[in-house]
Amino acid sequence: MDTSGETLKVYRHYIDGASVAPASDRYFETFNPFTAKPWAMVAQGDARDVDLAVEAAHRAFTSGPWPKLTASQRGALLLRLADLIGPQSLRLAEIEVRDNGKLLSEMAGQTAYMANWYRYYGGLADKIEGAVIPTDKADVLNFTRHEPLGVIAAIVPWNSPLLLTAWKLAPALAAGNTVVIKPSEYTSASILEFMELVEQAGFPSGVVNVVTGFGQDVGAPLSEHPKVAKVAFTGSDRTGQLIYEGAAKGLKRVSMELGGKSPNIVFDDAELDNAVKGVISGIFAATGQTCIAGSRLLVQRSIHDAFVERLVAFAKTARMGNPMSADTQVGPVTNLPQYRKILEYIDIARAEGAIPVLGGGKAVRPECGDGWFVEPTIFVGVGNAMRIAQEEVFGPVLSVIPFEDEDDAVAIANDVQFGLAAGVWTQDIRRALSMSERLRAGTVWVNTYRAVSYLSPFGGYKRSGLGRENGQDMIHEYLQTKSVWISTAAEVPNPFVMR
Ligand code: NAI
Ligand code: MG
Repeated sequence: MDTSGETLKVYRHYIDGASVAPASDRYFETFNPFTAKPWAMVAQGDARDVDLAVEAAHRAFTSGPWPKLTASQRGALLLRLADLIGPQSLRLAEIEVRDNGKLLSEMAGQTAYMANWYRYYGGLADKIEGAVIPTDKADVLNFTRHEPLGVIAAIVPWNSPLLLTAWKLAPALAAGNTVVIKPSEYTSASILEFMELVEQAGFPSGVVNVVTGFGQDVGAPLSEHPKVAKVAFTGSDRTGQLIYEGAAKGLKRVSMELGGKSPNIVFDDAELDNAVKGVISGIFAATGQTCIAGSRLLVQRSIHDAFVERLVAFAKTARMGNPMSADTQVGPVTNLPQYRKILEYIDIARAEGAIPVLGGGKAVRPECGDGWFVEPTIFVGVGNAMRIAQEEVFGPVLSVIPFEDEDDAVAIANDVQFGLAAGVWTQDIRRALSMSERLRAGTVWVNTYRAVSYLSPFGGYKRSGLGRENGQDMIHEYLQTKSVWISTAAEVPNPFVMR
């Protein structure tokens, strides 16, 4: 319990438009990673709460005001929600920082920026058009309708709770579905607070619900619930696979944004100061806790030593400390298991023969207090077959791997199970285009890193995921197509043969 003696804030589920106590009557602590102390209590859900929420979402999908709304009216609700976010974005960001330890400067940007998802998909809601199909049959009209799927389960992780929820919630609602959100057990608070805005915007009860708790207790029954039509997930590949297996039993749709081991590739013709910054932003921003982390630095052998020297010099200057402070650059790791996992990977890398040229352990600095801090760490002498080069660490740990030429860079870059993103640093336009074609990843950045937008498709190749999020076409991930045939013939023809 909280050693300060203050009473902790209590968060309950949000089901059918109301704050609901968990059936178990149990709550668990959520921690502030900067202090390593609990700051709130969160409802510990189980299958009973999941059932309540899914039933509410199913009722809201099939009866009441929601299915009667026109697409334009649904869009208007989303636009209203987008407008409500602005004035609350800093408050929501502060809650996220208290819960996940990421920098306020980054989270405040994210919570403000996420309004764009609600605005964009709100605008798109009434532009989803079917087609009149030219028919090869006489006296018949054939047209298509794009209809919502039903209840969507949105299962999200702790690194960007509200933003990654928006990526699912905005298109799901624009398409006319209803939603049950399962936040990460490490970061439930901001999503629950966000429900106040959903309510103020005027969404009918049951259209958006939140059940908090652990993956096994809440995530698993949610993804297997017979009344859930689709599971939209962001998280680890291992959990993604489990959810996919569970969803398969009910032949549910899934979309999955999973992890990565993304290469950030620096050629000898690159603008090196920019490349250094790009590599830093790929691995030390967000303390490396992003799915798109550029955790493998592939650097051309001719500039390897000089580049590593510049990189280490720059990374050394990173200011660690309180994530709420405007001048902090590297904050704590979000949770204790993750902190331990990162330190374990650092040990694994050492045992594999990789050589740390920066960091290489927990951060013990006065400005880090009791928080879960890991030193920004750079390993050289990494072979691409090592575990440190193949497995997602999800922390501030960079593996440096030299390459000879373009073919070698492509071969190393693609030789992983993942394919979420890749970065290329070069001033040669031919090389930039050729690399963007040859890299097996859902996103390729050239001379930039970590750019994402509501306008542009995002998702993974290989074990990095299934389906895409963001952009115009992606609303179809939340729709199904119906084909309607209407006969205009005066008489029904021979009934014993197919028409
Ligand atoms: P996770 O992938 O296990 O959790 C993500 C979400 O899935 C959470 O809401 C969790 O409660 C839920 N979940 C867990 N088990 C489930 C199950 N059996 N059925 C349904 N839902 C379930 O991620 P976790 O444990 O928080 O972190 C573990 C590792 O995952 C990290 O070390 C990191 O490597 C990776 N990760 C990747 C993320 C990404 O954006 N690609 C985000 C967070 C973690
Ligand atoms: Mg927390």
